[in-house]
Amino acid sequence: MMLGFWISLVLTVILDNLSPYFYKLFIDIIPTEKWTILFKILMLYVGSRLLSEILENVMRSLGDLALFPASRDARSGVVKKIHKLDFAFHTSKSTGSLISLIKRGDGAFFDFFHSVNINISRTLIGFIIMLIFLFRVRWEFAALSFVSFGLILLSSRKLIRNNMKARKSFNESEDEISEIIVDNLINFETVKLFAKEKWEQKRLLNSFETWIKKLWDYSMSFRIINLVVAGIGNLGLALVLLLGIKYLSTKTITMGDYILIISFITTFYYQFFELIYVLRDVAKQTVDMEKYFGILDEKEKVKDPKNAIILDKIKGEISFKEVNFNYPKNKNKAVKNINLIIKPGQSVAFVGHSGVGKTTLVKLLMRFYDPNSGEILLDGINIKKLKKSNLRSFMGVVPQEPVMFNKSIKYNIAYGIDDVNEESIKAAAKLANLDEFICSLSKKYETNVGERGVKLSGGQKQRLAIARMILKNPEIIIFDEATSQLDSESEKLIQDAFWKAAENKTTIIIAHRLSTIIKAEKIVVMEKGEIKEVGSHRKLLADENSLYSKFWKLQSDR
Ligand SMILES: Nc1ncnc2c1ncn2[C@@H]1O[C@H](COP(=O)(O)OP(=O)(O)OP(=O)(O)O)[C@@H](O)[C@H]1O
Ligand SMILES: [Mg+2]
Repeated sequence: MMLGFWISLVLTVILDNLSPYFYKLFIDIIPTEKWTILFKILMLYVGSRLLSEILENVMRSLGDLALFPASRDARSGVVKKIHKLDFAFHTSKSTGSLISLIKRGDGAFFDFFHSVNINISRTLIGFIIMLIFLFRVRWEFAALSFVSFGLILLSSRKLIRNNMKARKSFNESEDEISEIIVDNLINFETVKLFAKEKWEQKRLLNSFETWIKKLWDYSMSFRIINLVVAGIGNLGLALVLLLGIKYLSTKTITMGDYILIISFITTFYYQFFELIYVLRDVAKQTVDMEKYFGILDEKEKVKDPKNAIILDKIKGEISFKEVNFNYPKNKNKAVKNINLIIKPGQSVAFVGHSGVGKTTLVKLLMRFYDPNSGEILLDGINIKKLKKSNLRSFMGVVPQEPVMFNKSIKYNIAYGIDDVNEESIKAAAKLANLDEFICSLSKKYETNVGERGVKLSGGQKQRLAIARMILKNPEIIIFDEATSQLDSESEKLIQDAFWKAAENKTTIIIAHRLSTIIKAEKIVVMEKGEIKEVGSHRKLLADENSLYSKFWKLQSDR
């Protein structure tokens, strides 16, 4: 296919570049009045134009056959890589700039193919053909053209490099703008709550100031290239034409030759300017693609092991051994010296002030991050030895702030499960105490939940996340209770739903309301990243000076 592409490309360029030669033939034959020969040449000329047009389209179609799947592979490859990357990557990147660089990179990928394969090859082949013809007239013409061509290429090298630098700097500014816009789209509610529309617009305008400056620098670096190219190019053109007139006056060349030179040189210079534009574009595309494909080089921090153990079934025993962890770029340890065993089927609750590291323990257990030291075991196997997807398949997490896909309730409950029927979705929703609410909606299970689930209340989102977890039917369930205060009615609905799902399963519950966890077999009290107390509700309350007793008193006084 690519061979066909190249053959048709070369042929169409050759045919295209024969025009000046035909002009020469016309001019040289007309005075001889051999009309039949002229007619034949004319037909040949028209035929070659037509054939060139056909070949051009064949060439482009063949190119597209290679380009379209390549573009698909590049884009899906980048998404695949993004899926592979860790939590840490996602927390450090902004969605806005990521979208901006992906869009730019994808566009550049398309253009790069055309610029490099079609435009540059076209000009180079055209140049060679011209040199051959000029050389046949007189070598001086070929030499002169060659020198000016070389001079232009040499002088534009550094200029194009500067231009690339300017482009890079402009791209950063462009990403920043995109970051602000997407941040505003995501935080629309906060902006409105604080009536900060004007302030946000000003923030955007401020960023546009640098944007304009950088765009100006970028455009100026173009202008300089244009001036230099035009200067050297036109000088070369003038010299060739002058030399032509000199030879014409001494009758060293024919009128037809002169026309051939003029039309070759003028069409070629036109093409050559195009080439410089194309080179500029290629420079831009290279810069744009660099970051895009740079995503593919991002290093995964939490890797799947080489010879991963694949578990089919688990008992559900979890143990933390001397686990220490701090988030990247955060010196403070989020959790310290964690030692804990959770037996199969046991329910364990974590309590403690905000920020003590409760959610962090779940993230470590899910292998969103790896501990700095110590190990976490599942059924006695270090979780680092398992495939991440295998490990996660055993866990069902109801996150602290559940986020939904901008699709129907049904889609969100059934997320990630292939073959699922309506009844089981409904049954899960019933268990999660959500069915009644869903049935009150006019479109029922087909109701769209909005972006990130904005059309649902906080409690409804949590119950939907519970339904989703129930349907997945994992061996280990983890419930990170929302910090937001729900009314006691919805709180009861959620707790009810959760404990129903928790039956006979290893259960981890992170609770803010202690009433939630009286049922838990083991309560773990944390402070500043460390485990301070472990015991049942009763045992912990028995000690009046325990942290747990303090929490309990505080909450029951309310
Ligand atoms: N991605 C992150 N990067 C850096 N630091 C983080 C990150 N996520 C959490 N932290 C920090 O780690 C500490 C523990 O956070 P964690 O989310 O585990 O608290 P928590 O006990 O779940 O609190 P809450 O009850 O408010 O949910 C906090 O000090 C927090 O600021
Ligand atoms: Mg938390």
